[in-house]
Amino acid sequence: MSTLDIRDLQVSIETEQGTKEILKGVNLTVKTGETHAIMGPNGSGKSTLASTIAGHPRYHVDGGSITLDGEDVLAMSVDERARAGLFLAMQYPVEVPGVTMTNFLRTAKTAIDGDAPSLRTWTKEVREAMGQLRIDADFAHRNVNEGFSGGEKKRVEILQLELFKPKFAVLDETDSGLDVDALKVVSEGVNRAQAAGGMGTLLITHYTRILRYIKPDFVHVFVDGRVAEEGGAELADRLEDEGYDRFLTPAGK
Ligand SMILES: Nc1ncnc2c1ncn2[C@@H]1O[C@H](COP(=O)(O)OP(=O)(O)OP(=O)(O)O)[C@@H](O)[C@H]1O
Ligand SMILES: [Mg+2]
Repeated sequence: MSTLDIRDLQVSIETEQGTKEILKGVNLTVKTGETHAIMGPNGSGKSTLASTIAGHPRYHVDGGSITLDGEDVLAMSVDERARAGLFLAMQYPVEVPGVTMTNFLRTAKTAIDGDAPSLRTWTKEVREAMGQLRIDADFAHRNVNEGFSGGEKKRVEILQLELFKPKFAVLDETDSGLDVDALKVVSEGVNRAQAAGGMGTLLITHYTRILRYIKPDFVHVFVDGRVAEEGGAELADRLEDEGYDRFLTPAGK
């Protein structure tokens, strides 16, 4: 059983107009086996939280802490975080020209685990995972994300999730841009990873439709860099009906 604990997290970035505060004291605790959904209006800081957990250098932590089983995540480099068991499925996965999927997956798996997976079982595992996610075998020879459609990129993020077996997965809008079939396939992948045990999930989404397939234990509403309200799965339905109006203060206040 592991715990990812985020305490009073404050994050800013440097922009041409000066320092911009984005996260203004985020508290969140995720344990193995739990699924937490984060919902909230555009620009409220959801992806900033995801990037800060992963260690993106652009985001400066001004206060607070992130710990994984008591270990200081903020003191770790990006690759140390991955080895410690943190995984981020990006809202906009990047293309990596010149690196094939096969090479990338095996190199990343080796770096995360500290030793290379046995070639025979690994090849089979990759092939099976691709099949379950309905990713055509040809993709193994293509460069990472290069020319992939939006939905294909999202499936490949979940392929990595299933193969790398992290302790905590942050999925940033993995559902956006997916057609109904892909949404189901991707959700099943997340559920398989969760059912295998040993994983907690932070699911950032705008839509309750993915929550029909992936049942959240907790829903957090993110507004203006903070968690404004928390509840169970029913909160997501309420947000879909009512929007975020009641959380937003009129401009200028
Ligand atoms: N690198 C950056 N440069 C400038 N502004 C940034 C940067 N990263 C984040 N911001 C700003 O910080 C705020 C929060 O952005 P973030 O991407 O975290 O929002 P979000 O909640 O993920 O929104 P969405 O639902 O649209 O994905 C936004 O106002 C955004 O413009
Ligand atoms: Mg975002």
